[in-house]
Amino acid sequence: METPDFVFKGIQNSPEHVKTAWQSPSNIAIVKYWGKIGDQIPANASLSLTLDACHTRTEVSCRKRESGEKQQINFFFEGKEAPEFGQKSFSFIQKIRGFQPFLQDYHLTIKTENSFPHSSGIASSASGMSALALCFMSLEDELAGGYDDEFFFRKASFLARIGSGSASRSIYGKTTVWGEHHDFIQSSNLYAVPHRENVHPVFDSFNDVILLIHEGSKSISSTAGHAALNHHPFAESRYREAGVNMGLLKNILAAGDVAAFGELAEREALMLHALMMAGPQPFILMKPNTLAVITAVQEFRKQTQTPVYFTLDAGANVHILFPDEVREKVLNFIEGELVVYCENKQYICDRVGNGPVKQQL
Ligand code: DP6
Repeated sequence: METPDFVFKGIQNSPEHVKTAWQSPSNIAIVKYWGKIGDQIPANASLSLTLDACHTRTEVSCRKRESGEKQQINFFFEGKEAPEFGQKSFSFIQKIRGFQPFLQDYHLTIKTENSFPHSSGIASSASGMSALALCFMSLEDELAGGYDDEFFFRKASFLARIGSGSASRSIYGKTTVWGEHHDFIQSSNLYAVPHRENVHPVFDSFNDVILLIHEGSKSISSTAGHAALNHHPFAESRYREAGVNMGLLKNILAAGDVAAFGELAEREALMLHALMMAGPQPFILMKPNTLAVITAVQEFRKQTQTPVYFTLDAGANVHILFPDEVREKVLNFIEGELVVYCENKQYICDRVGNGPVKQQL
């Protein structure tokens, strides 16, 4: 499907009030998206695991606007009116107006809350933008008189992408691909697609324990991070390498090769940070404790032959990845040896999840 296919076609129903709510998860990229054009056309394809415990719940109430009335958009974050947090949602609404012109006909009240602490350094844009896009799609669904699931979720992913690239992947559970890649037939730069066939069941129950290394906000926005790739000496080789890694990962997922999966995840994470460190305006997002955890994980793996690996986002936190069969052993290792490196001993036990859930109201 192409961009014009996502323009709203016409109103069947015109309800005065609509209220809708979705819970949508975060995701962790194994092959990373880093580098983009415009409103999130990715420079390379990426693949992620959808998470479960880290999610955002968003409720949108829409009330028909009388002609002449100025549109009101009110934003509540964790129960309190929070116009400063609403800014991102507001600019998102402006950007998607061409695809959902009916949004202007309603006053909107948006209430959102995260399952993880705001200060944790866990990016909320993937879960937040996907939850909001799904709420707007539920409104569209009412107005259009009903869509099939395929179009509903595809357009939700398309809209979520305009809010934040990685959010496009949170629309589907388990393993998700976003960005055109010849090995993934249905893949698109405009929206993510679920990657369900030929994935070994070991990855359906994979664990991701997120070690919270450094509280507070990141020292660079992801927009600035992506922009650094525009004049980066290694940009082209990075995009090539990401393409190669997508092809490798497809085969690894099919084979259930946990060791190859973990090694690829680690290489991708280190390459992401190496790109940041080698850009025109270098920056370092790892903290000393990030490196301490990486070293401890690699050492533990070597000593005990336990399949435990790490990946990183654009921040200091470390995601510890491992299959369910070694869960107890790895949780003991984390409690015994890694927790000392976490700020206030905080970590979040997450795992692969089934994707967003519509909320009963
Ligand atoms: C390092 O999706 O947060 O997490 O599109 O500008 O909102 P924007 O960026 P964002 O970038 C995520 C980058 C990453 C890798 C990934 O999730 O693929």
